[in-house]
Amino acid sequence: MAPSDDPQADEPQDTADEHIVTPSEHTSPPHVRPAEPTSAPSSEAGRRNDSTEASSSSNHQSPGPPTHHPGLGVQVSAGANRGGTPFRRGVVSFVRRSPRMNVSQQKALDRLSDRYLVDVPRDTTSTSVAAGSTLDVAGIFGRTAPLTVEIGSGSGDTLAAVAAAHPDRDFIGFEVYLPSIATTLNKLAEKDVSNARVIMADAAAGLEHLFVAGQLDEVWTFFPDPWRKKRHHKRRIVNPDTIDLVTSRVRPGGLWRLATDWQDYADWMLDLLGHDDRLESVGAQPGPRWTERPLTRYENKGVTSGRVVHDFTWRVRTVESAS
Ligand SMILES: C[S@@+](CC[C@H](N)C(=O)[O-])C[C@H]1O[C@@H](n2cnc3c(N)ncnc32)[C@H](O)[C@@H]1O
Repeated sequence: MAPSDDPQADEPQDTADEHIVTPSEHTSPPHVRPAEPTSAPSSEAGRRNDSTEASSSSNHQSPGPPTHHPGLGVQVSAGANRGGTPFRRGVVSFVRRSPRMNVSQQKALDRLSDRYLVDVPRDTTSTSVAAGSTLDVAGIFGRTAPLTVEIGSGSGDTLAAVAAAHPDRDFIGFEVYLPSIATTLNKLAEKDVSNARVIMADAAAGLEHLFVAGQLDEVWTFFPDPWRKKRHHKRRIVNPDTIDLVTSRVRPGGLWRLATDWQDYADWMLDLLGHDDRLESVGAQPGPRWTERPLTRYENKGVTSGRVVHDFTWRVRTVESAS
């Protein structure tokens, strides 16, 4: 494959290619400190910590027949890289590829990492996040503002566009593929964005270890890797474990925006999220295309292939809306 920022071929291969971090590679970046135990309630997933076993959330209702039933009783992604037990590996939603970069991407990393890339303490792999870390978000941005996390920010089109349009809000993109991150840094710099950062880590690990309950205003999951084969469904990032994390880390009243161009993934999202009583639908599902979302390469590919794009928006229930 020529150097590019494409993290996967049409269908990701079910292989693991993780770089195991040696003790000397562990970092102590300035904005991250080992967490003191937080008094904020942790998510169901957080309590499971490094478990590679899936289990349903306590109030997750079975949404459909087995063929449509994603996570219950099987391993789901987000089990590995979560920190905790050394060398325990599980199912993740991505395949690490050799990070071959073109000249522009290498230059972007050299020039812009200090400005935009936030390092975090690692566990056993280069995309893990050490258990017990927290992120000094106010220190990173020099203020406290509504915070959005993007799961799988890819080449940063959405991150850069929306961050530039909303200087009063802060944004953190999680991405595991270094060439895509390098492209993102270029896009952030082109727009001279100061309110967005990128973390190279499994977003599930980041959500679990770097944020406390209710800290986030929004989470985005746009065009997640489809993992179309049935035996790969366990790798889908939208799964009961991630739902536990998102509904914990997003404040009541905050939003989870998603989009996919794969019909069966749209059905999967609707099954899982539409039956979770911690979430309430914002309008019809799927809803209209979020107008702030720029057309990315992935969406464009879906559209030109004749696929229909589905946008979803769920709100984390407030106490009032739950009663
Ligand atoms: C199909 S691309 C879509 C990228 C972007 N959201 C867009 O719409 O253009 C999915 C991206 O998610 C990343 N990814 C998959 N699982 C991830 C995870 N657990 N944490 C962080 N990034 C992940 C992949 O590396 C890939 O760049």
